[in-house]
Amino acid sequence: MPESASEIPGGEYVVMANRHFGKLSDVWKHAALAEVLEREPPRRYAETHAGSAAYPILPDAERQFGIMRFLDVAASSEVLARCRYGAVAASWLDGHGLYPGSALLAMTVLGDASFYLLCDLDPGSTADLGRWARELNLHHCEIAQADGMAAVGAWLDRPADQAGLVHIDPFDPDARGPGGYSAFDLAARVADSGTPLVYWYGYDQPSDQAWAYTRLTARTRAPLWCGDIMVTGTSRTPGDLGRATTPGTGFGVMLANLQAGTAAACTTLGNALADAYAGALLPDGSRGDLLFTTRTNGRTP
Ligand SMILES: C[S@@+](CC[C@H](N)C(=O)[O-])C[C@H]1O[C@@H](n2cnc3c(N)ncnc32)[C@H](O)[C@@H]1O
Repeated sequence: MPESASEIPGGEYVVMANRHFGKLSDVWKHAALAEVLEREPPRRYAETHAGSAAYPILPDAERQFGIMRFLDVAASSEVLARCRYGAVAASWLDGHGLYPGSALLAMTVLGDASFYLLCDLDPGSTADLGRWARELNLHHCEIAQADGMAAVGAWLDRPADQAGLVHIDPFDPDARGPGGYSAFDLAARVADSGTPLVYWYGYDQPSDQAWAYTRLTARTRAPLWCGDIMVTGTSRTPGDLGRATTPGTGFGVMLANLQAGTAAACTTLGNALADAYAGALLPDGSRGDLLFTTRTNGRTP
Protein backbone atom coordinates (compact mmCIF):
# COMPACT_ATOMS: atom_id res chain seq x y z
CA MET A 1 0.00 0.00 0.00
CA PRO A 2 1.46 3.43 -0.87
CA GLU A 3 2.58 5.58 2.08
CA SER A 4 -0.08 8.17 1.21
CA ALA A 5 -2.93 5.67 1.14
CA SER A 6 -5.70 5.20 3.68
CA GLU A 7 -7.14 1.76 4.19
CA ILE A 8 -10.90 1.58 4.04
CA PRO A 9 -13.09 -1.30 5.25
CA GLY A 10 -12.85 -4.31 2.94
CA GLY A 11 -9.07 -4.01 2.57
CA GLU A 12 -9.20 -1.46 -0.25
CA TYR A 13 -7.35 1.78 -0.09
CA VAL A 14 -7.75 5.31 -1.38
CA VAL A 15 -4.79 7.59 -2.01
CA MET A 16 -5.24 11.04 -0.53
CA ALA A 17 -2.92 13.99 -0.29
CA ASN A 18 -4.19 14.76 3.21
CA ARG A 19 -3.81 11.78 5.57
CA HIS A 20 -4.57 13.67 8.76
CA PHE A 21 -8.31 14.14 8.41
CA GLY A 22 -10.45 13.49 11.47
CA LYS A 23 -7.51 13.46 13.94
CA LEU A 24 -7.72 15.61 17.07
CA SER A 25 -5.71 18.38 15.40
CA ASP A 26 -8.44 18.54 12.72
CA VAL A 27 -11.13 18.60 15.41
CA TRP A 28 -9.69 21.74 17.00
CA LYS A 29 -8.94 23.43 13.66
CA HIS A 30 -12.42 22.73 12.30
CA ALA A 31 -14.30 23.53 15.53
CA ALA A 32 -12.64 26.96 15.70
CA LEU A 33 -13.11 27.56 11.95
CA ALA A 34 -16.84 26.77 12.11
CA GLU A 35 -17.23 29.08 15.12
CA VAL A 36 -15.55 31.92 13.20
CA LEU A 37 -17.59 31.34 10.02
CA GLU A 38 -20.83 31.25 11.96
CA ARG A 39 -20.09 34.41 13.97
CA GLU A 40 -18.51 36.48 11.17
CA PRO A 41 -19.68 34.88 7.90
CA PRO A 42 -17.52 36.23 5.05
CA ARG A 43 -19.01 36.88 1.61
CA ARG A 44 -15.67 35.69 0.16
CA TYR A 45 -13.80 32.66 1.51
CA ALA A 46 -10.33 31.68 0.26
CA GLU A 47 -8.32 28.65 1.27
CA THR A 48 -4.68 28.02 0.27
CA HIS A 49 -4.44 24.28 1.15
CA ALA A 50 -8.01 23.07 0.85
CA GLY A 51 -7.42 19.30 0.67
CA SER A 52 -10.33 17.11 -0.44
CA ALA A 53 -13.89 18.06 0.36
CA ALA A 54 -14.71 14.82 2.20
CA TYR A 55 -12.88 11.73 3.49
CA PRO A 56 -14.17 8.17 4.04
CA ILE A 57 -13.85 7.78 7.81
CA LEU A 58 -11.28 5.29 9.10
CA PRO A 59 -11.85 3.20 12.25
CA ASP A 60 -8.29 3.63 13.58
CA ALA A 61 -6.94 4.87 16.94
CA GLU A 62 -6.25 8.43 15.71
CA ARG A 63 -9.81 8.99 14.41
CA GLN A 64 -11.17 7.22 17.47
CA PHE A 65 -9.31 9.76 19.63
CA GLY A 66 -10.25 12.60 17.26
CA ILE A 67 -13.65 12.96 15.67
CA MET A 68 -15.29 9.82 17.13
CA ARG A 69 -14.38 10.66 20.72
CA PHE A 70 -15.34 14.29 20.14
CA LEU A 71 -18.84 13.29 19.05
CA ASP A 72 -19.14 10.98 22.09
CA VAL A 73 -18.07 13.56 24.67
CA ALA A 74 -19.90 16.45 22.98
CA ALA A 75 -23.21 14.94 24.07
CA SER A 76 -22.39 15.62 27.72
CA SER A 77 -20.79 19.06 27.29
CA GLU A 78 -23.17 22.00 27.06
CA VAL A 79 -20.67 24.01 24.97
CA LEU A 80 -19.61 21.21 22.60
CA ALA A 81 -23.17 19.95 22.17
CA ARG A 82 -24.29 23.25 20.68
CA CYS A 83 -21.21 24.05 18.57
CA ARG A 84 -21.77 24.20 14.82
CA TYR A 85 -18.79 21.96 14.01
CA GLY A 86 -20.25 19.01 15.93
CA ALA A 87 -23.58 19.31 14.13
CA VAL A 88 -21.96 19.55 10.67
CA ALA A 89 -19.48 16.70 11.27
CA ALA A 90 -22.22 14.44 12.68
CA SER A 91 -24.51 15.11 9.74
CA TRP A 92 -21.80 14.24 7.15
CA LEU A 93 -20.72 11.14 9.09
CA ASP A 94 -24.26 9.89 9.68
CA GLY A 95 -25.52 10.75 6.21
CA HIS A 96 -22.52 9.69 4.08
CA GLY A 97 -19.88 8.01 6.29
CA LEU A 98 -17.62 10.93 5.35
CA TYR A 99 -15.54 13.31 7.43
CA PRO A 100 -15.90 16.89 6.10
CA GLY A 101 -12.64 18.75 5.47
CA SER A 102 -12.31 22.48 6.06
CA ALA A 103 -13.58 23.49 2.59
CA LEU A 104 -16.71 21.34 2.84
CA LEU A 105 -17.27 22.64 6.36
CA ALA A 106 -17.10 26.20 5.00
CA MET A 107 -19.42 25.34 2.08
CA THR A 108 -21.91 23.77 4.51
CA VAL A 109 -21.86 26.68 6.98
CA LEU A 110 -21.79 29.53 4.42
CA GLY A 111 -23.83 27.95 1.63
CA ASP A 112 -24.52 29.68 -1.67
CA ALA A 113 -24.40 33.18 -0.15
CA SER A 114 -20.58 33.26 -0.37
CA PHE A 115 -17.91 33.22 -3.08
CA TYR A 116 -15.15 30.62 -2.71
CA LEU A 117 -11.58 30.24 -3.89
CA LEU A 118 -10.34 26.74 -2.96
CA CYS A 119 -6.76 25.81 -3.90
CA ASP A 120 -4.83 22.56 -3.81
CA LEU A 121 -1.96 21.18 -5.89
CA ASP A 122 -3.35 17.64 -5.81
CA PRO A 123 -5.69 16.76 -8.73
CA GLY A 124 -7.64 14.19 -6.67
CA SER A 125 -8.36 16.82 -4.01
CA THR A 126 -9.50 19.48 -6.49
CA ALA A 127 -11.71 16.92 -8.31
CA ASP A 128 -13.38 16.06 -5.00
CA LEU A 129 -13.88 19.76 -4.17
CA GLY A 130 -15.52 20.30 -7.56
CA ARG A 131 -17.77 17.30 -7.11
CA TRP A 132 -19.11 18.48 -3.75
CA ALA A 133 -19.45 22.12 -4.86
CA ARG A 134 -21.72 20.83 -7.67
CA GLU A 135 -23.62 18.49 -5.32
CA LEU A 136 -24.28 21.44 -3.01
CA ASN A 137 -25.32 23.55 -6.00
CA LEU A 138 -22.90 26.35 -5.19
CA HIS A 139 -22.83 28.98 -7.93
CA HIS A 140 -19.68 30.91 -6.98
CA CYS A 141 -17.02 28.32 -6.29
CA GLU A 142 -13.63 28.71 -7.99
CA ILE A 143 -11.40 25.68 -7.58
CA ALA A 144 -7.75 26.14 -8.46
CA GLN A 145 -5.31 23.28 -8.95
CA ALA A 146 -2.48 25.66 -8.23
CA ASP A 147 -0.08 26.90 -5.59
CA GLY A 148 -2.37 28.29 -2.90
CA MET A 149 -0.02 31.06 -1.78
CA ALA A 150 0.24 32.54 -5.29
CA ALA A 151 -3.49 32.13 -6.02
CA VAL A 152 -4.67 33.60 -2.71
CA GLY A 153 -2.02 36.36 -2.93
CA ALA A 154 -3.55 37.39 -6.30
CA TRP A 155 -7.08 37.07 -4.82
CA LEU A 156 -6.11 39.54 -2.07
CA ASP A 157 -5.17 42.06 -4.77
CA ARG A 158 -8.53 41.77 -6.55
CA PRO A 159 -10.77 44.78 -5.96
CA ALA A 160 -13.71 43.64 -3.83
CA ASP A 161 -16.54 45.40 -2.04
CA GLN A 162 -17.27 42.48 0.20
CA ALA A 163 -15.43 41.20 3.22
CA GLY A 164 -13.26 38.14 2.77
CA LEU A 165 -11.63 35.59 5.03
CA VAL A 166 -8.48 33.58 4.32
CA HIS A 167 -7.84 30.12 5.76
CA ILE A 168 -4.21 28.91 5.63
CA ASP A 169 -3.55 25.32 6.68
CA PRO A 170 -0.11 24.25 5.42
CA PHE A 171 1.89 21.06 5.92
CA ASP A 172 5.04 23.18 5.82
CA PRO A 173 4.77 26.85 6.88
CA ASP A 174 8.09 27.82 5.30
CA ALA A 175 8.03 25.98 1.96
CA ARG A 176 7.98 28.54 -0.83
CA GLY A 177 5.53 27.98 -3.65
CA PRO A 178 6.22 28.94 -7.27
CA GLY A 179 4.86 32.43 -6.53
CA GLY A 180 7.70 33.01 -4.05
CA TYR A 181 5.56 33.20 -0.91
CA SER A 182 5.64 30.73 1.96
CA ALA A 183 2.42 30.03 3.87
CA PHE A 184 3.80 32.01 6.78
CA ASP A 185 4.71 35.00 4.56
CA LEU A 186 1.18 34.97 3.21
CA ALA A 187 -0.26 34.84 6.74
CA ALA A 188 1.69 38.01 7.64
CA ARG A 189 0.49 39.70 4.46
CA VAL A 190 -3.16 38.75 5.06
CA ALA A 191 -2.95 39.95 8.68
CA ASP A 192 -1.38 43.28 7.60
CA SER A 193 -4.08 43.79 4.94
CA GLY A 194 -6.80 43.81 7.64
CA THR A 195 -8.43 40.70 6.13
CA PRO A 196 -9.71 38.13 8.65
CA LEU A 197 -7.36 35.14 8.86
CA VAL A 198 -7.59 31.63 10.30
CA TYR A 199 -4.16 29.95 10.42
CA TRP A 200 -3.42 26.39 11.61
CA TYR A 201 -0.03 25.20 12.91
CA GLY A 202 1.34 22.08 14.55
CA TYR A 203 4.44 21.02 16.47
CA ASP A 204 6.27 17.95 17.77
CA GLN A 205 7.86 19.18 20.99
CA PRO A 206 6.72 21.24 24.01
CA SER A 207 9.36 23.94 23.43
CA ASP A 208 7.48 24.85 20.23
CA GLN A 209 4.19 25.57 22.03
CA ALA A 210 2.41 28.50 20.28
CA TRP A 211 5.40 29.05 17.98
CA ALA A 212 3.25 30.53 15.22
CA TYR A 213 1.86 33.22 17.51
CA THR A 214 5.35 34.19 18.69
CA ARG A 215 6.50 34.48 15.08
CA LEU A 216 3.47 36.32 13.74
CA THR A 217 3.40 38.92 16.54
CA ALA A 218 6.91 39.88 15.45
CA ARG A 219 5.70 40.47 11.87
CA THR A 220 2.40 42.32 12.16
CA ARG A 221 0.53 44.83 14.28
CA ALA A 222 -2.83 43.26 13.36
CA PRO A 223 -5.18 42.05 16.14
CA LEU A 224 -4.17 38.46 16.93
CA TRP A 225 -5.53 35.63 19.05
CA CYS A 226 -4.11 32.13 19.40
CA GLY A 227 -5.66 28.99 20.89
CA ASP A 228 -3.02 26.28 21.45
CA ILE A 229 -3.61 22.67 22.49
CA MET A 230 -0.67 20.62 23.77
CA VAL A 231 -1.07 16.93 24.57
CA THR A 232 0.36 16.06 27.99
CA GLY A 233 0.88 12.70 29.72
CA THR A 234 3.44 10.29 31.07
CA SER A 235 4.17 8.31 27.90
CA ARG A 236 7.73 8.81 26.66
CA THR A 237 6.95 8.18 22.98
CA PRO A 238 8.94 10.77 21.00
CA GLY A 239 6.62 13.43 19.55
CA ASP A 240 5.73 13.38 15.87
CA LEU A 241 2.38 14.98 15.23
CA GLY A 242 2.39 13.83 11.60
CA ARG A 243 2.34 10.20 12.74
CA ALA A 244 0.65 10.18 16.13
CA THR A 245 -1.02 12.37 18.72
CA THR A 246 1.40 11.76 21.62
CA PRO A 247 2.42 13.77 24.74
CA GLY A 248 4.51 16.77 23.73
CA THR A 249 2.83 17.18 20.36
CA GLY A 250 0.42 20.05 19.84
CA PHE A 251 -1.40 22.29 17.42
CA GLY A 252 -3.16 25.59 17.39
CA VAL A 253 -5.34 28.03 15.56
CA MET A 254 -4.43 31.67 15.12
CA LEU A 255 -7.00 34.32 14.30
CA ALA A 256 -6.19 37.76 12.92
CA ASN A 257 -8.52 40.73 12.39
CA LEU A 258 -11.50 39.02 14.04
CA GLN A 259 -13.74 40.44 16.76
CA ALA A 260 -12.92 39.92 20.44
CA GLY A 261 -16.31 38.18 20.88
CA THR A 262 -15.32 35.58 18.25
CA ALA A 263 -12.00 34.93 20.00
CA ALA A 264 -13.83 34.65 23.33
CA ALA A 265 -16.21 32.05 21.84
CA CYS A 266 -13.18 30.06 20.58
CA THR A 267 -11.65 30.28 24.07
CA THR A 268 -14.86 28.80 25.53
CA LEU A 269 -14.76 26.04 22.91
CA GLY A 270 -11.09 25.19 23.59
CA ASN A 271 -11.66 25.04 27.35
CA ALA A 272 -14.67 22.76 26.84
CA LEU A 273 -12.61 20.49 24.57
CA ALA A 274 -9.79 20.23 27.15
CA ASP A 275 -12.32 19.49 29.94
CA ALA A 276 -14.07 16.84 27.86
CA TYR A 277 -10.76 15.06 27.08
CA ALA A 278 -9.38 15.11 30.66
CA GLY A 279 -7.63 11.81 31.45
CA ALA A 280 -8.44 10.38 28.01
CA LEU A 281 -6.80 7.27 26.56
CA LEU A 282 -4.39 8.56 23.91
CA PRO A 283 -3.98 6.70 20.59
CA ASP A 284 -0.82 4.98 21.97
CA GLY A 285 -2.84 3.53 24.89
CA SER A 286 -1.41 5.79 27.62
CA ARG A 287 -3.49 8.35 29.58
CA GLY A 288 -3.19 12.05 28.88
CA ASP A 289 -4.74 15.49 28.97
CA LEU A 290 -5.04 18.49 26.70
CA LEU A 291 -3.38 21.67 27.91
CA PHE A 292 -5.32 24.54 26.33
CA THR A 293 -3.72 27.99 26.44
CA THR A 294 -4.60 31.25 24.73
CA ARG A 295 -2.58 34.30 23.77
CA THR A 296 -3.64 37.66 22.41
CA ASN A 297 -2.02 40.98 21.66
CA GLY A 298 -5.21 42.68 22.85
CA ARG A 299 -5.68 44.76 19.66
CA THR A 300 -9.13 45.04 18.09
CA PRO A 301 -10.06 45.40 14.41
C1 LIG B 1 -3.34 19.63 5.70
S1 LIG B 1 -3.97 19.30 4.11
C2 LIG B 1 -5.32 20.37 4.01
C3 LIG B 1 -6.47 20.00 4.90
C4 LIG B 1 -7.68 20.89 4.82
N1 LIG B 1 -7.33 22.31 4.89
C5 LIG B 1 -8.63 20.55 5.94
O1 LIG B 1 -8.54 21.15 7.03
O2 LIG B 1 -9.49 19.67 5.76
C6 LIG B 1 -2.78 20.05 3.10
C7 LIG B 1 -3.10 20.06 1.60
O3 LIG B 1 -2.20 21.00 1.02
C8 LIG B 1 -1.96 20.60 -0.31
N2 LIG B 1 -0.80 21.40 -0.75
C9 LIG B 1 0.51 21.22 -0.45
N3 LIG B 1 1.23 22.25 -0.96
C10 LIG B 1 0.37 23.11 -1.56
C11 LIG B 1 0.50 24.34 -2.23
N4 LIG B 1 1.70 24.94 -2.41
N5 LIG B 1 -0.62 24.95 -2.70
C12 LIG B 1 -1.84 24.36 -2.56
N6 LIG B 1 -2.02 23.17 -1.92
C13 LIG B 1 -0.93 22.56 -1.42
C14 LIG B 1 -1.83 19.11 -0.23
O4 LIG B 1 -2.11 18.53 -1.49
C15 LIG B 1 -2.89 18.77 0.84
O5 LIG B 1 -4.11 18.40 0.25
